[in-house]
Amino acid sequence: MPIRNMHKKPFDEGTQDKLQLYREYLREWLPVFINSKYVDTIQIFDFFAGPGLDINGNQGSPAITWIEIRDALRFGKKEPSKKISAYFNEKDKSKYQILSSYIDEARVNLPQVACEKLNEDFQSAFIQWKPHMNGPVANLLFFDQNGVKEITKEIFETVLKLPRTDFIFFISSAMVNRFKAAPEIRNYVPVTDEDFSMMNGTNVHRIVADSYRRWIPTGLEYYLGSFSIRKGSNVYGLVFGSGHPRGIDKFLKVAWKHGGDANFDIDHDGLNTSQMQMFPEFDKPTKIALFEKELESAVLDRQLATNKDVYLFSLRNGMLASHAKDGLKSLMQNKKLPEQVLHISYGAWKKTDVEIIRHF
Ligand SMILES: C[S@@+](CC[C@H](N)C(=O)[O-])C[C@H]1O[C@@H](n2cnc3c(N)ncnc32)[C@H](O)[C@@H]1O
Repeated sequence: MPIRNMHKKPFDEGTQDKLQLYREYLREWLPVFINSKYVDTIQIFDFFAGPGLDINGNQGSPAITWIEIRDALRFGKKEPSKKISAYFNEKDKSKYQILSSYIDEARVNLPQVACEKLNEDFQSAFIQWKPHMNGPVANLLFFDQNGVKEITKEIFETVLKLPRTDFIFFISSAMVNRFKAAPEIRNYVPVTDEDFSMMNGTNVHRIVADSYRRWIPTGLEYYLGSFSIRKGSNVYGLVFGSGHPRGIDKFLKVAWKHGGDANFDIDHDGLNTSQMQMFPEFDKPTKIALFEKELESAVLDRQLATNKDVYLFSLRNGMLASHAKDGLKSLMQNKKLPEQVLHISYGAWKKTDVEIIRHF
């Protein structure tokens, strides 16, 4: 598959959506660690950085990173209480040169932020920067690869073992569907024959993103999220990972501002909120309706014992605490659960569990 030099063309809508999610996650993530007492360094690694901007001056990930750091530091006026470092890598020489001058210029107005740049292949940049990722640090890793090959099992497992590290990677999932007959595709993504049998051009990214659960080491508490992006007739997407409920909670809040887990009508719900149906359950997006059903059986079957279990269950299913709250509320309204107060939120997750009371 030929790789386009996208930066000579303006970013398309799908790319803008991808970058918007990156921007909004960064906006949520930075303050958590700027205000944290557990870290002394905050680090953002952009391994496939590109030149900084597209031909029309739209911000690429390096510009977004820089602007979000500046804004988090109150437009550069605040002296950070922690060290903040930004790392940018770009393999292509000419893009790297543009990137390098862009960063040098941007740094003049933000000298309190440390910066490293590399003009290397991803794998070698990862090896060089990996030693910086341990200790009392918080890391956000952005892997905006072309195609599907760079996030190998080894890289994935290494990233999962790093402390306080969230990642976002892009994957051309459409390629996985297109090349499903080619045995080599299985070397790059953890999809199985069963996954392939359910895969189509629309759901491909959901299935590909979900397949990475197989690479989570046994016994490790880890949260994955996904967002499908349609570009023309192809579906690509982002995979998000965090070892902490707060990380996935924040990612999901951003994702739900943009439609849940896709920038298009992935379940063909065709909902028109201006013409609501007489029966509200028919107005529910499929994803929410399915989740409520799964939540109901998990609660009534006692697989979920407490409010904390419900909170983590919602995050693992790509849903917000508010979806779980609505689900529990309707169980109480339908007399399937006795009336009771159950706080479902990140704040409540940090406190003592509250046992769910059932009728029997
Ligand atoms: C999808 S673009 C990333 C765009 C960038 N995040 C932005 O917002 O502008 C992928 C970039 O990675 C670079 N690239 C491709 N393969 C690479 C590799 N193996 N190592 C490092 N960079 C690579 C490409 O030159 C391209 O600029």
